[in-house]
Amino acid sequence: MGYNNLAMKALVVSIVLGVVAAGVELPGNKKVARQVPAIYVFGDSTMDVGNNNYLPGNEVPRADHPYYGVDLPGSGKPTGRFSNGYNVADFVARNLGFEKSPLAYLVLKARNYLIPSSITRGVSYASAGSGILDSTNAGGNIPLWQQVRLFESTKAEMEATVGPQAVSHLVSKSFFLFGIGSNDFFAFTRELAKQNRSATQSDVAALYGSLVSNYSASITELYTLGARKFGIINVGPVGCVPRVRVLNATGGCVDALNQLAAGFDVALSSKLAELAAKLPGMAYSVADSFGYASGTDPKAAGFVSADSACCGGGRLGADADCQLGATLCADRDRFLFWDRVHPSQRSAMLSAQAFYDGPAHFTSPITFKQLAQHNI
Ligand SMILES: *[C@@H]1O[C@H](CO)[C@@H](O)[C@H](O)[C@H]1NC(C)=O
Ligand SMILES: *[C@@H]1O[C@H](CO)[C@@H](O)[C@H](O)[C@H]1NC(C)=O
Ligand SMILES: *[C@@H]1O[C@H](CO)[C@@H](O)[C@H](O)[C@H]1NC(C)=O
Repeated sequence: MGYNNLAMKALVVSIVLGVVAAGVELPGNKKVARQVPAIYVFGDSTMDVGNNNYLPGNEVPRADHPYYGVDLPGSGKPTGRFSNGYNVADFVARNLGFEKSPLAYLVLKARNYLIPSSITRGVSYASAGSGILDSTNAGGNIPLWQQVRLFESTKAEMEATVGPQAVSHLVSKSFFLFGIGSNDFFAFTRELAKQNRSATQSDVAALYGSLVSNYSASITELYTLGARKFGIINVGPVGCVPRVRVLNATGGCVDALNQLAAGFDVALSSKLAELAAKLPGMAYSVADSFGYASGTDPKAAGFVSADSACCGGGRLGADADCQLGATLCADRDRFLFWDRVHPSQRSAMLSAQAFYDGPAHFTSPITFKQLAQHNI
């Protein structure tokens, strides 16, 4: 592998001890020191930073073409992020004192750089289209459970380089960031539509049951692997994205889909409280993406559009994909949505700030900042 194991060991020890306090300049913020030694990211297209570009198949959703990345600082090029610039994982990472999200696992593998990156910064396993359930968009993404498996294999590689003790210390102090679940609800409603029926109470109960148990199994597995700090972004108002709004004649949110997500968020929060009571040393913060998006006035936050895609076409910008030839809005910072499903860079920045150290009601039981600083 060509890396000096002793040097690496010294590096990981100094990072864990906070000796290497590399920080970054946030626009309008003072320089922040790293709050945690590394970040490991699990999630869907709201967090993907390039994994899907390396997955084979035509069905794989990829943001590997213009105008994705058009506002990305430095390059303006597509990277696999479903955003005009940085996504919410990047902004959580920036708040934690990193330059951006850790790099994608498959990118690191392709460049033979998993070591040292997994030790010095972390890894992103997030994959667009993925769900909590393996069955969601099966075959075109890395589902949550598989993402956890990839972390397990990363951990083995780290241990082979710097030894189990240093890795156990690193992992226990690092930030495990999650943002997943929307695709499970999209897939569920698509399946019902195919069957030409609406959800019964028992359909919903069965869905919640498998979502909560699969999510909880993933978190428990990571805990067993040594993770202690879990920052979990819950499922937002999925009925309000432009692609779903166009199904409503008025262009309003589709209430039934929002209610479905809100019910899951309640079940997830209570499951996490239950896990934390059972697993010694587990600390967590749920970021209430649903409450944040539905409780924040977009106009007051400077958005002129909260219902339409900046990059797209047709009604609400939602009739076309964001690609060359699509219509672009005039001011990308003034649109809540970048494409017909995903938030704009500015909207991702604002939500990450709210989750990091915003008003207490956007996170529970502690903020992301408190989670990062929590002593394990
Ligand atoms: C679905 O249901 C509607 C009304 O209940 C009916 O008009 C339509 O033919 C059905 N479609 C299929 C594919 O069963
Ligand atoms: C995940 O959910 C599926 C149903 O979709 C269930 O069969 C499976 O047992 C669940 N796995 C875990 C670990 O809970
Ligand atoms: C469509 O949006 C309106 C608000 O504009 C809302 O009152 C209505 O319930 C929505 N319809 C559905 C099916 O959710």
